This record gives sequence, structure tokens and C-alpha cells, in this order.
Amino acid sequence: MSAQRVGTVSDLPPGKVIGVGRYAVGNAYGNYFAVTRRCRHLGADLAGGAIDDTGCLVCPWHQSTYDVMTGRMVRGPQGVLAKVPGLDFSYRMLTRVLPLGRTRVTERDGELYIGD
Ligand code: FES
Repeated sequence: MSAQRVGTVSDLPPGKVIGVGRYAVGNAYGNYFAVTRRCRHLGADLAGGAIDDTGCLVCPWHQSTYDVMTGRMVRGPQGVLAKVPGLDFSYRMLTRVLPLGRTRVTERDGELYIGD
């Protein structure tokens, strides 16, 4: 894949997530990341998510949480779904095998790009 422009560095301040093509691109407090946008739970758009205090990406639908460096879910679906026995564990296991896809984010002259 060729590099795709994300925007300027000021378009992506710490704590922000935006959608670029099939990726959710964010700034986890100085650490830029790009992961595929579809939540492994029910497919919510992770570009509409948030970054928590630990720098993880939080799904906007049921607040599953992803480690943006590995693409693995570190906390399963919350709310009533958190009470379903084994659900949290099974989704976390699923994303060990099938993590979110990732691509590189690079900065050149104040502009951010994803891909190679
Ligand atoms: S769709 Fe993401 S946690 Fe349910």
C-alpha cells in the first residue's frame, strides 16, 4: 500500500481519533497509531472511539478496549454484555489470534501519513 495522507500534526492532537480510509488513526498521548476501524465485537467504527487514560482505544458502542500497539482487545464489551459469562475472555482470546490490522504512521514536515 502506498502512503496515504492523514492531515497535519495539528489535525491530530493528543487524545484524538479520526477515520482515514479503512483505518482509525489516533494520537495516544504522543504515540501515533493506525488500526483497522471495525470493532471485533459487533463492527462499530473505531474512528468514533476515544482514547483512555492508559492510551488504549475505546469502542464507541460497548466500550471494549484495544491496545493500539498490538491490536488486541484488553477489555471486552461492557454494560449488560459484561455480565455474559465468558464473553470478555472469548473476545480477548479472539483478538490474540485476530488482532486489529495495523499500519505505520509517519510524520514528514508536519504532515502525517499512514502506510509505507
Ligand atoms: S461493537 Fe465494539 S464493543 Fe461492541
